[in-house]
Amino acid sequence: MSRITRRDFFRLTGGFAALAGVGGGTATFPLSSAAAATGGGKGGALDVEIALKATRAQAAILPGGQTAVWTYRADLVKGDAASLQVVPGSYLGPIIRVRKGAQVRVRFSNDLPEQSNIHWHGLRVPERMDGHPRDVVGPGGSYLYEFPVLNRAGTYWFHPHPHTLTGGQVYRGLAGLFIVSDDEEARLNLPSGEYDVPLVLQDRTFDAQNQLVYLQGGMGGMMGGRGRMMMGRGGTMDNQGAMGGMGGMMDRMMGFLGDRILINGRPDFVLPVATRAYRLRLLNGSNSRVYKLAWHDSSPLTVIATDGGLLAKPVQRPYVMLGPGERVELWADFTKLGARGEMTLQSLAFSGAEGDEMMGGHGGMGRMGGMMGGGRALPNGAPFPVLKVRVAREEKETGTLPAVLATLPRYRLGDAVNGRAPRRFALTMRAMNWLINGRSFHMEEVAPDETVRLNTVEAWEFVNERNPGEMMEQNGMVHPMHIHGVQFQVIERQVVPDLKAGWDTVKDGYVDEGWKDTFLIMPGERVKLVMRFQDHPGLFLYHCHNLEHEDMGMMRNYRIES
Ligand code: C2O
Ligand code: CU
Ligand code: CU
Repeated sequence: MSRITRRDFFRLTGGFAALAGVGGGTATFPLSSAAAATGGGKGGALDVEIALKATRAQAAILPGGQTAVWTYRADLVKGDAASLQVVPGSYLGPIIRVRKGAQVRVRFSNDLPEQSNIHWHGLRVPERMDGHPRDVVGPGGSYLYEFPVLNRAGTYWFHPHPHTLTGGQVYRGLAGLFIVSDDEEARLNLPSGEYDVPLVLQDRTFDAQNQLVYLQGGMGGMMGGRGRMMMGRGGTMDNQGAMGGMGGMMDRMMGFLGDRILINGRPDFVLPVATRAYRLRLLNGSNSRVYKLAWHDSSPLTVIATDGGLLAKPVQRPYVMLGPGERVELWADFTKLGARGEMTLQSLAFSGAEGDEMMGGHGGMGRMGGMMGGGRALPNGAPFPVLKVRVAREEKETGTLPAVLATLPRYRLGDAVNGRAPRRFALTMRAMNWLINGRSFHMEEVAPDETVRLNTVEAWEFVNERNPGEMMEQNGMVHPMHIHGVQFQVIERQVVPDLKAGWDTVKDGYVDEGWKDTFLIMPGERVKLVMRFQDHPGLFLYHCHNLEHEDMGMMRNYRIES
């Protein structure tokens, strides 16, 4: 594994280090079936072939000793050198860059001590190519992914999806970007090359030996890493105590939160820039942390794209909410910063994400979730700096933001076959388990109300409900909900009046104008989506992208019937 040798690691290295090739494992999925399953794609000649090996490695992240990580080693087997961008020294990556319509083949091999696979988040691929948890391979195994790229230009990503193990594998470093370009986007002449900067936001906790801490050492493992825990608004308590043992359990139930923010796998991230316009592609690759992104000087953020690519036209926001799995692309013009200028992107404070209305609103001790969540090292909703931009060089050329970005048809409820009575999905907790319509994940299980028809436009309504009688989460918590196999549009949001206070601290940061595959839903909120199931029949997932929630079973199959 290469060590980190440069800060400025986003430039193309211009040729790749001879990385270890993938051994001759057998594909568990025969190529002929893969090609046959590509359906509406062009299924033509192969354009890109990449070998991706998930393996253990060491990375220099903090000063001092190296950190044991899991990482993808990538090797370009066929295709243009620009289609594979290794992120030197970082545990993250690689970045795969392809054109819409390309035929892509990825030879995955598993060099990890446990089963794994690859899911192409946001991409419209056939069911057996989608990285469903039933399609995992054990240590030493391999899997052949092949699909045509049907999606429009946008920032998609990939990560493992083995049931109960996704959170740990992503946390240790397995995640990369899958960037699609197309003709519509190319005509805009948006900032490219070194002015097109991917930024992956993650939070991590390190122990004194620089090793990653994640739900380790049984129930109390996490608290051990943090030393002491705050008890509500009172004093502190040693982790030896009875409550300390609940730390690991809390992290599972609420989602893991690290106390250090890493960008592209690096702490204290500074992006050297020129005085000109940039395209910043942000992915929230965190397990459960939600970001409320804003420039430190309160200048608005200019958003040009969401999960599924460019918006019809740029929109401005005072801040942008970014939940786990979501992407947002910003147009950022650093012209006015001048020589040596600096700018900080920060995450602002917000409330209500962990149902903590009860704490302030009703002032009770009745809700342990809020009390303990509030005691975590860097709670969801606490403010912190995300990254710094620093001018390293002045440039004459600035770049112009196009007034129109893309042609984007807008759905209305009336376009759906069930617009008057959307399919309803209640998000609840029972006996400390997060559920969807009262159900947990079972590998092959699909209920009748989880079956849709191909070539049909549907409305789905998610409702983040109360959990009366639940000790931990009476008011629920924020969930980043994700649907595989489609891009959808968020049509409508409503919130129950008494949970509106928390919602008001985030609502101006939703960007619902474009295509989405993941959306945030706050406690007390209901969200209506419209989408068309148009590509591939088969079994796909929908789930909470809080990876601890997902691993605990807040995930279900849905079936697209042809
Ligand atoms: Cu990125 Cu099923 O998820
Ligand atoms: Cu996905
Ligand atoms: Cu969740």
